[in-house]
Amino acid sequence: DWTPASYIETTVRELREKLGGDKVVLGLSGGVDSSVAAVLLHKAIGKNLTCIFVDMGLLRKDEFSSVLDSYKHMGLNVIGVDAGDKFLGDLKGVTDPEQKRKIIGRDFIEVFDSEAQKLKDVKWLAQGTIYPDVIESVSVNGPSVTIKSHHNVGGLPEKMNLKIVEPLRLLFKDEVRRIGRELGLSELLLGRHPFPGPGLGIRILGEVTKEKVRILQEADAIFIQALRDSGWYDKVWQAGVMLLPVQSVGVMGDERTYESCVALRAVTSTDGMTADWVHLPYELLAKVSNDIINKVRGINRVVYDISSKPPATIEWE
Ligand code: XMP
Repeated sequence: DWTPASYIETTVRELREKLGGDKVVLGLSGGVDSSVAAVLLHKAIGKNLTCIFVDMGLLRKDEFSSVLDSYKHMGLNVIGVDAGDKFLGDLKGVTDPEQKRKIIGRDFIEVFDSEAQKLKDVKWLAQGTIYPDVIESVSVNGPSVTIKSHHNVGGLPEKMNLKIVEPLRLLFKDEVRRIGRELGLSELLLGRHPFPGPGLGIRILGEVTKEKVRILQEADAIFIQALRDSGWYDKVWQAGVMLLPVQSVGVMGDERTYESCVALRAVTSTDGMTADWVHLPYELLAKVSNDIINKVRGINRVVYDISSKPPATIEWE
């Protein structure tokens, strides 16, 4: 019978046999999969695992420091790299979504690689790939149609000449969560919504700038906190805010304003392949809209996205 405990026991034994005394490097994203993979590997090989967590400057508000702290509390050996300036510099003037993804993916590999080079004698690259990733990379990003190129760390292994170890490769998300729970990861971490690899970079439509990142982080933090406070966070699969490349006229006091618009997005889904928009209560939407417009300088209009996937996608880019 499959239980989280038996999976952990078997996998830890197999990892020890496979890896022996070799050194392993793993890229942490703050998400459930890479975190569970890290804790599982840490249990198997202890200090021979080094994790690298890259701040692309495109994470949610305060996410880098809070997630880095929680990893350190778990006893993981984590190197945090603040690379925001590089990413934002390379994204300057770029507006095409696929081009943005390519730049972010390429920069990520460069930063990760240069950190990993500093470690001596690393033989393996560990990844938190789960079963749906294996399927999706075949069906969605096959040679004939690329709807959106999902970057995780594709391309990295060849470049670094490392062998790959993927301890979650045969698991579905709910199994990964159960294993994480058994390993003692916090519910806060295990219950986190999926978040795209390119981060807020694909939620800022058009060119990404530091100022736009700041505006979006503020608005997103208000929306996510309101979902948590109202008990909706755990009922939705994924939620976030999109900063639109649209300015519109508003009025504040007796001044005319001409500022940006954000779209709120909240969806239910089982695997991200299809999704429905969530019927959030009007009162909740009203509160979030008021808070965002009153507190976030630069935004004077909030809309709610009522499109399902297909034909829309979850992210706007
Ligand atoms: P879409 O927008 O294609 O998103 O409906 C489906 C799921 O995938 C996430 N997503 C990404 N994840 N790299 C990722 O690692 C990406 O480039 C990327 N684009 C979308 C999205 O957040 C949703 O969970």
